[in-house]
Amino acid sequence: MPVISIANPKGGAGKSTTALVLGTTLAAHDATVTLLDCDPNRPIAGWARGGSSTAMKVLGDVGESGIVSAIDAERAARQFVLVDLEGTASRMVSRAIMRSDLVLIPMQASAVDAAQAARAVGLVQEEEQVVGRAIPFRVLFTRTSSAIPTRNEKMIIDELREAGIPVLTTHLNERAAYKSMFTYGQTLVELDPSLVNGLPAAKENAERLSGEIIELVSTLNRKAAA
Ligand SMILES: Nc1ncnc2c1ncn2[C@@H]1O[C@H](COP(=O)(O)OP(=O)(O)O)[C@@H](O)[C@H]1O
Ligand SMILES: [Mg+2]
Repeated sequence: MPVISIANPKGGAGKSTTALVLGTTLAAHDATVTLLDCDPNRPIAGWARGGSSTAMKVLGDVGESGIVSAIDAERAARQFVLVDLEGTASRMVSRAIMRSDLVLIPMQASAVDAAQAARAVGLVQEEEQVVGRAIPFRVLFTRTSSAIPTRNEKMIIDELREAGIPVLTTHLNERAAYKSMFTYGQTLVELDPSLVNGLPAAKENAERLSGEIIELVSTLNRKAAA
């Protein structure tokens, strides 16, 4: 059903990590999930070759010409379609955004990253004009500390709020476990706690993020139906 694109023209913003954490967590709760890996480096398709037994389906061969039909086919069959996008503004990114029910914009809490996230918001707004409907989007802070927010972080959150840019309450905190998912080709549930620091906290964070997304998607659905 809902198509959630993960977009930010800045590389290293946390798009692929967010997509993998969110997709595998939803799938661990028995949701049917397809993740379209549209990053030319195919990080998620590479992850999927690591042998995880997740029920999440990964499509790693989707290009610019096939993206719309791939999204439509998966949307008809699955509860969640996630699209991990490349770190540039491209026609493929535009097409995915146009087809989305929600766009997540992961960003790190730095001034440089905030400027790039503003570009990502601009891309969503351009596509809104093209399709003539609102395309809901949310900024997701990534790699923040789970401890007290830094002054930097607070300033950036305030700036976004003043600019009317909606931000998710949950952050994807900096956790070694999220890197380990890629290292071992496993989900958070599959990772060995004796090899990975802070795994319970990473799982709790992933659950909270998924919970917030599920709630947001159902609110957006109700609004769309009204
Ligand atoms: N929450 C996080 N905790 C720890 N490392 C992270 C986190 N988010 C991203 N990273 C690391 O930052 C780098 C860039 O993240 P990635 O998800 O590949 O970004 P993007 O897809 O936007 O280019 C990777 O090395 C990844 O492991
Ligand atoms: Mg990526």
